[in-house]
Amino acid sequence: HRTAAVIPAAGRGVRLGPGAPKALRGIGGTPMLIHAVRAMARSRAVSLVVVVAPPDGAAEVRNLLDEHALPERTEILVVPGGDTRQESVRAGLDALPDGVTTVLIHDAARPLVPVDTVDAVAQAVRDGAPAVVPAMPLADTVKEVEPGKPGEAEPVVATPERARLRAVQTPQGFDLVTLKRAHDELAGDTAGGEGATDDAGMVERLGVTVVVVPGHEEAFKVTRPLDLVLAEAVLARRRA
Ligand code: CTP
Ligand code: MG
Repeated sequence: HRTAAVIPAAGRGVRLGPGAPKALRGIGGTPMLIHAVRAMARSRAVSLVVVVAPPDGAAEVRNLLDEHALPERTEILVVPGGDTRQESVRAGLDALPDGVTTVLIHDAARPLVPVDTVDAVAQAVRDGAPAVVPAMPLADTVKEVEPGKPGEAEPVVATPERARLRAVQTPQGFDLVTLKRAHDELAGDTAGGEGATDDAGMVERLGVTVVVVPGHEEAFKVTRPLDLVLAEAVLARRRA
C-alpha cells in the first residue's frame, strides 16, 4: 500500500444528541461509518483503510464492516481510538504498515464526500505537496469574540475579511513522515485539553506549508441534528 486512509470514528457525537456513537448512526438506513469507508475505498488511490473505533467498540465495528459490502481490493483494519480526535488519529497512524507514504485522514462524520474530492487530495500529495486540505469559501461573515459565560453577551474582537477565509473539510492528505513528525513534536502540548481538531493545523505548527484544494458542499460534517436531515436529503437526491 502506498496511499492509506485513516478514518477517526471514535467520537461520541455529543452535539448530535443522545443515541449510539455518531459514526454508527444511520443515514438512508446505512451507518455513517460505512458510507465513509465506501467513500474512501471508491478512490483508486486507496487500498488500505484504518478505522479508528470507539475505545470499547472495536469488535462491534469489525462486525459492522463484515456485514456490509465493501470493495474487495481494499484492506480494512480496525483499531481502538482515544479520548480526543488527535489521540484517535495517532492510534490510526501507528497501525499503518511499512510502505505507506501518503495518508488521507477522513472524518467518519463526513459520510458523503464525493470520490472526486478524495482523488484530488490524494493526487495533490502525490504531486509533491506535504499537506493538502479541501476547503470551501464561507457563506457567513465570521467574528472573533472574547468568549463569555453561556447566555452572556460576548464582545467582538475582530472581523476577518470573509473573502480570505475558508472552511476546511476532510479528507486531509499528508506525506506520512511529515504528519507523524507533527504528532511526535506536539503530543505533549495539547495533553489534558481537547487536542487538535484539525490535522493540517498540527503540520502548520511545524512551519510546513499546507495547501488548499477545492472542497465540496456534500463533504459537510454531520455535527448537529439538522445535519442529519441534510444528509438524508443529499442521499435521497443521489438515489433519485
Ligand atoms: N473522533 C475520534 N475520537 C475522538 C473524538 C472524535 O475519532 N475522541 C472523530 C469523530 O468520530 C468524527 C471526527 O473525529 O468522525 C470529527 O469529530 P466530531 O465531528 O467532533 O465528532 P464527535 O467528537 O463524535 O462529536 P462531538 O464533538 O459533538 O461529541
Ligand atoms: Mg468532537
